[in-house]
Amino acid sequence: MMSSKVSRRQFLSYTLMGVGGFMASAMLMPMVRFAVDPVLQPKSEGEFIPTPQKVDQLTDSPVRVDFTIKDRKDAWYKSDVSNTAWVYKEGDTVIALSPVCKHLGCTVSWEGDEKHKNEFFCPCHNGRYEKNGKNIPGSPPLGPLDEYMVNVVDGYVYLGKTVPNTLV
Ligand code: FES
Repeated sequence: MMSSKVSRRQFLSYTLMGVGGFMASAMLMPMVRFAVDPVLQPKSEGEFIPTPQKVDQLTDSPVRVDFTIKDRKDAWYKSDVSNTAWVYKEGDTVIALSPVCKHLGCTVSWEGDEKHKNEFFCPCHNGRYEKNGKNIPGSPPLGPLDEYMVNVVDGYVYLGKTVPNTLV
């Protein structure tokens, strides 16, 4: 009799441990995910994020496009990530460049300063880039701006992950 009570209690405590372990792992999972995710990037090769930019409103002059990578999933935590691209059209091709300066990571602007027409300009150390993202020799950046993968869906620009510049 006694032994069956004990074993029932044991059974119960194992069961509770099991539930506790499950809950602990459920709480840990989002943190692990946070640690390993490159949150500033879409998750995979094939993922494209919608932007509010209509393709037919683009010209050959870069415009700033802000977009948000929505946190995709669990109720445990939420983190939408804002991102920016410089987008223009070259013929029928939509080009989107990363604004992250290849010197020390400041944000570049198109014609960001009076003296630099028709160029991207980084105010941190006067970094300069041509429209296709090519770094201008003699200014601090040592490589071209990254390019976003671009998709067009229903007339709107969708942006994927950044890749090394293919235009330069
Ligand atoms: S961070 Fe852009 S020039 Fe230095």
